[in-house]
Amino acid sequence: MIKAGIIGGSGYTGGELIRILLNHPGVEIDFVFSTTRAGKPISSAHPDLLGVTELEFTGESNLEVDVVFLCLGHGNSSKFLSENEFSAQTKIIDLSNEFRLENDAEFQGNKYVYGLPELQKEAIVNATHIANPGCFATAIQLALLPLAKEGALSQEVHINATTGSTGAGVSLSPTSHFSWRNNNISWYKPFTHQHLGEIGESLNSFGNTIGKLRFLPNRGNFTRGILATAYTAYEGSLEEAKSLYQKFYQEALFTHVTDDPIHLKQVVNTNQCHIHLHKHEDVLLVTSAIDNLLKGASGQAVQNMNLMFGLKEDLGLQLKAGVF
Ligand SMILES: NC(=O)c1ccc[n+]([C@@H]2O[C@H](COP(=O)([O-])OP(=O)(O)OC[C@H]3O[C@@H](n4cnc5c(N)ncnc54)[C@H](OP(=O)(O)O)[C@@H]3O)[C@@H](O)[C@H]2O)c1
Repeated sequence: MIKAGIIGGSGYTGGELIRILLNHPGVEIDFVFSTTRAGKPISSAHPDLLGVTELEFTGESNLEVDVVFLCLGHGNSSKFLSENEFSAQTKIIDLSNEFRLENDAEFQGNKYVYGLPELQKEAIVNATHIANPGCFATAIQLALLPLAKEGALSQEVHINATTGSTGAGVSLSPTSHFSWRNNNISWYKPFTHQHLGEIGESLNSFGNTIGKLRFLPNRGNFTRGILATAYTAYEGSLEEAKSLYQKFYQEALFTHVTDDPIHLKQVVNTNQCHIHLHKHEDVLLVTSAIDNLLKGASGQAVQNMNLMFGLKEDLGLQLKAGVF
């Protein structure tokens, strides 16, 4: 059994990791670190786990575990790793954006590999340190990677994506307060969202010209999931676009292209990304949907762990969609 540690256990992505790993046949949770809840049962932060696990949060890390997941806010991963020196054998999967960009990928002598399996599975299989992609970044890259590889993304790309409130983490803020969020919608960080950096690096990795990415993020009136739409000028036919996507994702276990228009609930609570293509005049519209906490965070982190340890890529990730 792989011994795993989780840091930031009372947060949203930490909680999702606990839920997944408790049911993962190849993993035993060794410890769940918390700055605020040491000594308290896991169910004190995640009441759905009452009666499911006897585990308690701890204020101490076992530095010899096989894998550690860092589920911390920006800046806290490097701080935690500087204060807690894990063994040379410990594989590290960081869910924050600290090590995702090429220029930030080197830390403490280790190279963090960008953990998007659909982009670079081989590099992940051989990695010891993973920078897990952002949630918007995952949805948008999966929508655009086949076009980028084909050299069909040289024109301006307009992207609109709406996230649920869990995307902002567990701490209360004015825009995650029920009274504000319920029956409401708004955009934020227009054209400047921090995930544009990692999206740009991945799309550029094929060496083709990439047009300007115009990304407008929205806050939606729901708790989890991201629905992203991206459109750009495209010369080919819809059938050509479909076969491009089918070919690009033919080996992907979790990313699927469908002829039917998609909606959010078909992927929420799963590690799936669903993609739909639509052509109007000279424009190709690509829609993608993911669960921000699963394919956009903790599910993808476990997918990466499976690859790093030579396990079946989807082990422990056959999850049940909410659907209704
Ligand atoms: N939410 C998403 O959809 C999503 C998707 C992709 C990536 N991410 C990224 O994943 C990371 C975690 O996100 P999240 O949504 O799970 O955040 P979160 O709900 O705010 O949880 C973060 C947890 O980190 C712990 N913590 C806070 N300050 C700390 C410190 N100085 N040292 C150690 N632990 C500290 C806290 O848990 P304790 O009180 O138990 O210590 C806190 O609950 C972020 O970097 C985020 O950008 C999030």
